[in-house]
Amino acid sequence: MVHKVRAVVALEKNAPVSIETILVPDPGPGEALVDILTCGVCHTDLHYKQGGINDDFPFLLGHEATGVVNAVGPDVTNLVPGDRVILNWRAVCGECRACQRGQAQYCFNTHNATQKMTLEDGTELSPALGIGAFAEKTLVAAGQCTKVDDDVDPAAVGLLGCGVMAGIGAAINTGEVKRGESVAVIGCGGVGIAAIAGAKLAGATTIIAVDIDDNKVELAKSLGATHGINSKEQDPVEAIRALTGGNGADVVIEAVGRPETYKQAFYARDLAGRVVLVGVPTPDMKLELPLLDVFGRGGSLKSSWYGDCLPSRDFPMLVSHYKQGNLDLDAFVTERITLDDVEAAFHKMHEGKVLRSVVEV
Ligand code: APR
Ligand code: ZN
Ligand code: ZN
Repeated sequence: MVHKVRAVVALEKNAPVSIETILVPDPGPGEALVDILTCGVCHTDLHYKQGGINDDFPFLLGHEATGVVNAVGPDVTNLVPGDRVILNWRAVCGECRACQRGQAQYCFNTHNATQKMTLEDGTELSPALGIGAFAEKTLVAAGQCTKVDDDVDPAAVGLLGCGVMAGIGAAINTGEVKRGESVAVIGCGGVGIAAIAGAKLAGATTIIAVDIDDNKVELAKSLGATHGINSKEQDPVEAIRALTGGNGADVVIEAVGRPETYKQAFYARDLAGRVVLVGVPTPDMKLELPLLDVFGRGGSLKSSWYGDCLPSRDFPMLVSHYKQGNLDLDAFVTERITLDDVEAAFHKMHEGKVLRSVVEV
């Protein structure tokens, strides 16, 4: 059977998105058909629409989603219809060298659904990040579904599917923040603020928020930052050192993705501190550092891709923390909108007032 559903599609580069009827096939082997409950609007959807990821238009946008399993393919044993799930970008293979040594976040054989979703005229759709969840239903690989408790607000926990997980994971997985440590986060958008929430969850006692926008710094303080720095007004490296006994922070998380902020992170860390790059640079960006300064410090320089998360481990764990009141995911849901409002939500992103617009399908 083929399901006809409403969906948000980017038909061509830089054009406004449109609501289309799309055709979603029943799940084949290894696949799951999911009734979408909610899907957050992420910068990456905007990049797809602008042609910044690749040119495989038309794109079925949306990838930060939660839903209910509608049906599974013949050989799928880990899910049943009715399961509440959070979707992730790709299913891991379980067999490559990375998977075999317990580091599935580095799996190099990941996959998505094999069958294609299409427009009514048969044109194949490219689902954003292998998901495509601004739709009433979507088709994914069963391994992209992580089962979670269903007695929670889907709009809030669905955010774990992308940006919030990237930020929290940068702190708890990549940065390995420990109780009592000091953490500085440069850039307090959705990802940076999630990193602050992650640092708090991990027990950091000094959490320094750095941004060029006072509103972001204030928001960061309301979500766990103990100190705020406006880096337009103060040198952030000196300010972070001053707040950490002259040493620099144990962990500095860069959540902007620019050479100058990476350089600040590099110099604002403790002699044995860790720098985590979670902001995504563009291909033209370069940074020159005196090699002696690299040599003169211990610690580590790491990058964090999707928060080094293992969905099967991290999604249920973070949902539990949310339920217990240790992690305020509600604070990330700025507004609840419908599929018809996605284009407007893209425009709001630039105003800097919205952490997340979440579509309730
Ligand atoms: N110094 C400090 N903060 C800055 C600077 C700067 N030079 N330039 C921008 N910022 C702040 C912005 O004011 C904003 O609060 O960085 C924040 C970026 O936030 P968003 O645009 O909301 O981006 P976000 O979704 O948080 O993603 C951050 O991570 O996943 C990647 O591609 C994403 O590179 C991006 C980064
Ligand atoms: Zn995203
Ligand atoms: Zn693998």
